[in-house]
Amino acid sequence: MSDLENFINALPKAELHLHLEGSLEPELMMELATKNSIELPYKTVDEIRTAYDFSNLQDFLDIYYQGMNVLQSEEDFYALTMAYLEKVAQEGVVHVEVFYDPQGHTSRGVSFSEVTNGILRALDDGQERLGVSSELIMSFLRHLSEEEAFATLNEAEPWFDGRIVGVGLDSSELGHPPSKFLRVFNAAREMGLKLVAHAGEEGPAEYVREAIDLLQIDRLDHGNRTIEDAELTKQVANLGIALTVCPLSNLKLCGVSDMKEHPLKEMMAAGLNVTVNSDDPAYFGGYMTANFISVVEALSLSKTEIAKLCHNSIEGSFLTDEEKAPHINRIADILAQH
Ligand code: HPA
Ligand code: ZN
Repeated sequence: MSDLENFINALPKAELHLHLEGSLEPELMMELATKNSIELPYKTVDEIRTAYDFSNLQDFLDIYYQGMNVLQSEEDFYALTMAYLEKVAQEGVVHVEVFYDPQGHTSRGVSFSEVTNGILRALDDGQERLGVSSELIMSFLRHLSEEEAFATLNEAEPWFDGRIVGVGLDSSELGHPPSKFLRVFNAAREMGLKLVAHAGEEGPAEYVREAIDLLQIDRLDHGNRTIEDAELTKQVANLGIALTVCPLSNLKLCGVSDMKEHPLKEMMAAGLNVTVNSDDPAYFGGYMTANFISVVEALSLSKTEIAKLCHNSIEGSFLTDEEKAPHINRIADILAQH
């Protein structure tokens, strides 16, 4: 293992932007397809990997929704979630706040409770067995209607006793601005939930402004295009909310043509609380450490900058100050030793 990889793995980190369905590795996809008698348009794991060549977000989403068809039972969601936790526990990830897309499953006849309970059981076991703490965030598919989002919010209410801590907004961004979900987010806030939303991944800075000003989100997912608007950048920096940036995702979905052109360093320099995350690691070619290495090497980030990104991830999480403190202290100690 390289010095850089050792350093990154040693630092405590939180993953704040991870779609569980996007951690479905081709091997598990094949296994579940066979078990559940689901026909896939691929014969081998290699064929699946070859199909992962995307030009934009929608290209990826088409394959991502097809892939999740193999997830049928509570056990399948348990296996998916546990496989993810086992991977990241080896990379120094101490806390995760993961997304899932219940509408991608209920629309196929898999019940909300089977999906959610399978995930939650794995998160509980992951905390106990691997020492990775976690929170669960339910995302609304923004290409669907406000009415469908409300139906999902209402169905999820029994889990708002601390098991589902927040709601998010994902799927096709262009043409589906945050304002479309203003009333749903207001209702979620009144139910005591945390609010996050994807904005400024492919969509313009104006969508980031809507997510901030209208939805009043607690955290911004991606947010790369924020820096196209200087005034908005100042506003987001002053608010101090975290941005969950996903370098390999941006490269694979052609948000940047080369990692050397990634805006992460510029975003940090503008005072934004940037974090590094993996988004859909099975589709984009890497988990947390791979995302760090790709951007650190391309942008020549210093050890101080790497530690700052880890610090931001702990600070930007929904952990309490007491829960954050030991991780924050360890990051400072490790940096001091290097
Ligand atoms: N963007 C939007 N929706 C998504 C993504 C993403 O990167 N991954 C899974 N759903
Ligand atoms: Zn995402």
